[in-house]
Amino acid sequence: MTFDLFEKFDPILNDYNSLPKGAGNPFTVSMEQVLSPTTAIINGRETILAGTNNYMGMTFNQECMDAAQEALLTLGTGTTGSRMLNGTYNSHKKLEDTLREFYDTKHAIVFSTGYQANLGIIATLAGPKDYVVIDADSHASIYDGCAMGNATVVRFKHNDAHNLDKKLARIRKNDPQAGILVVLEGVYSMLGDQAPLKELTRISKAHNAFVLVDEAHSIGVFGETGRGVAQEQGVEDQIDFIVGTFSKSVGTIGGYCVSNNPKFEVLRLVCRPYIFTASLPPSVVASATKALELIANSNLRAKLLSNSRRLNNGLSQAGFEMGTTGESPIAAIIIAEQNTAITFWGEMIKEGVYVNLALPPATPKKLNLMRCSLSAAHSLEQIDFMLEKFILVGTKLGLLQDMPKRVLA
Ligand SMILES: Cc1ncc(COP(=O)(O)O)c(C=O)c1O
Repeated sequence: MTFDLFEKFDPILNDYNSLPKGAGNPFTVSMEQVLSPTTAIINGRETILAGTNNYMGMTFNQECMDAAQEALLTLGTGTTGSRMLNGTYNSHKKLEDTLREFYDTKHAIVFSTGYQANLGIIATLAGPKDYVVIDADSHASIYDGCAMGNATVVRFKHNDAHNLDKKLARIRKNDPQAGILVVLEGVYSMLGDQAPLKELTRISKAHNAFVLVDEAHSIGVFGETGRGVAQEQGVEDQIDFIVGTFSKSVGTIGGYCVSNNPKFEVLRLVCRPYIFTASLPPSVVASATKALELIANSNLRAKLLSNSRRLNNGLSQAGFEMGTTGESPIAAIIIAEQNTAITFWGEMIKEGVYVNLALPPATPKKLNLMRCSLSAAHSLEQIDFMLEKFILVGTKLGLLQDMPKRVLA
């Protein structure tokens, strides 16, 4: 059919239709009941949630739920307006004050999602005569921010300081006056590796570029007060913009950008993904504000990383090929064949573990991944249960070959 707008999706639809039907389909699974940050009823059975990004277990934190409930009852279910028109309540301003305090910055802007924060900041800051320089493994929201803007986009090899230097030098040689925005992530979400921010920011600054770091997977997790990898690596003063999300360790939804740039506030007047969408509902604003206060003083970071090391070490000792090392809360098993990865996912859900199946194009190097993102709320028993089930299914599928079951022996 010539004029069928959907024809271009036929190959995807064919792949999709060949997936197992019912409980074994990773794209139709739903939670019948959520019991806690780490457990839910799925397909009628209690299941451990191994990939929620709920790093600090905040979704059921009593103080956050109380704050949300009070805001819901006093301010209603939604703002029905954009931040510019009707949608800025005192509580949105308080949340921005809390972010300023949390990051010790002069400015903070809250968006309705982290995705929109990246869209808005990247597309607005980098105009037609400017350059955005991004890591090849950047999150889709960073790529989409580039696509939405009018700047020239240049990619450098993942975490490769030498390659970044080369790309920046080339831009500067051709265009000594160009505005350049280098976009990095604190932790890369699929393989959980940290960016060498010290080196990358040093190089960026040597070429007079602005630096933005997306700390979506690192807020709450790294740094003395949970500000992320920039704090952990001691380079906050070198970074112009930190973007983040409330949808992971903060346990709700929303995005933000903080900065010390004196002209930052102008973004409220020119940033379309900030202006042309409704603001966050009061209950979300209230729980995010409370969660940020709790995260700054949390003692759960060590527990989270020790959970991650236990799972990563256990899986690699069992003989799985790992894409991660336990340096972040993410644990990812690499599976060579896509069909095996899909079967693996289905067997795990049957065994009572909901892990994330991550497939290309969402993954770097076209990897098929069984990806866990752990929580400080996971107990040691839950981590060991996951390990046991991974080893059981891995053995059944022949992925561990003759590796002994060393972990649980
Ligand atoms: C690196 C990164 N940036 C931004 C986002 C978007 O966050 P949100 O869920 O708030 O839209 C994500 C979410 O997965 C992410 O991993």
